[in-house]
Amino acid sequence: MPKGFFITGTDTGVGKTIMAGAVIKAVNYMGLKAGAMKPIESGCGREGDVLIPFDGMFLKQMAHMDDPITLVTPCCLESPLAPISAAEADMTEISLYEIRRSFDKLSEKYEVMIVEGVGGLMVPIKRDYYVVGLARDLGLPLIVVARPGLGTINHIMLTLSCARKEGLTVAGIILNYSAPPEQSPAEQTNPKLLAQICPAPVIGIFPYLKNMGEEAVERTAIKNIDLELLRKCL
Ligand SMILES: Nc1ncnc2c1ncn2[C@@H]1O[C@H](COP(=O)(O)OP(=O)(O)OP(=O)(O)O)[C@@H](O)[C@H]1O
Ligand SMILES: [Mg+2]
Repeated sequence: MPKGFFITGTDTGVGKTIMAGAVIKAVNYMGLKAGAMKPIESGCGREGDVLIPFDGMFLKQMAHMDDPITLVTPCCLESPLAPISAAEADMTEISLYEIRRSFDKLSEKYEVMIVEGVGGLMVPIKRDYYVVGLARDLGLPLIVVARPGLGTINHIMLTLSCARKEGLTVAGIILNYSAPPEQSPAEQTNPKLLAQICPAPVIGIFPYLKNMGEEAVERTAIKNIDLELLRKCL
C-alpha cells in the first residue's frame, strides 16, 4: 500500500494547500521523498485552452517534482464550484480512473504521497461519491486542517465522525491560523478541550505567516508539526 496522508479540512479556505506544503516539508525533513497531488481542482485559471491548477502548481513546487502537472492534478475544472457542479457547468466528466492511474504512477516514484482533498469530507465529486470516498479509495490516513477559533470544535467533531463512519484513520489535526490571531477565549482554550474530547491528536498549531515563501513554510513546519506522531502513521 502506498504511504502518505490525505489532507482534508473542516471547510474550504482553511489552509489545506499551505498545510499540505508544510507536511511535504516535514516528511522531507524525516529523510523521505514526498510527492504531491491535488487530484481534483475547481476554480482553475485559464491560459488559452489550458486550465491552470494553482493548488496543484504550488504543491508541485513545494515537493520539487519534475513530473507533468497533469499527473499532479489530473482533473482541472474551471467553474469555482463543488466538483459535481463544476463538471456539469464545464460540460466534462471527472475520471476516477485517471486520478487512480496518476496516483499509482506517482506512488511508484515517491516514498510518501501527500494528497490534498477538495473542501471538506462531504463535498460531492459525483452522484453518491464524496471526498471521503476518494480518501478511502486512495487508502491514506487523514490529516484534518481546521480553524483555531470559535466554531471549530463542532466542525472538527463532525469531520471525525464522518471519517469514522467510513473506517478512515485520522492521523491528526492541524489548527491553522490562516488569519492573524484574535487572542479570543476560544483560540486559547480549544487545544486543551480537543486534547480532552477529541479521538485524534492535535499534531500541530500553525501560526499566521506574513511571508508564505517556501523556506518560511519549511521552517515553521519543522518547528510546529509533531514529527513523531506523523512518522507513526507512515
Ligand atoms: N498559516 C497561514 N498564514 C497566513 N496565511 C495563510 C495561512 N494558512 C493559509 N493562509 C492563507 O489563507 C488562504 C486559504 O489557504 P489555502 O488556499 O491553503 O486553503 P485551502 O483549504 O487549500 O482552500 P481550498 O479549499 O480553496 O483548496 C490563502 O490565501 C492562504 O495564503
Ligand atoms: Mg487548496
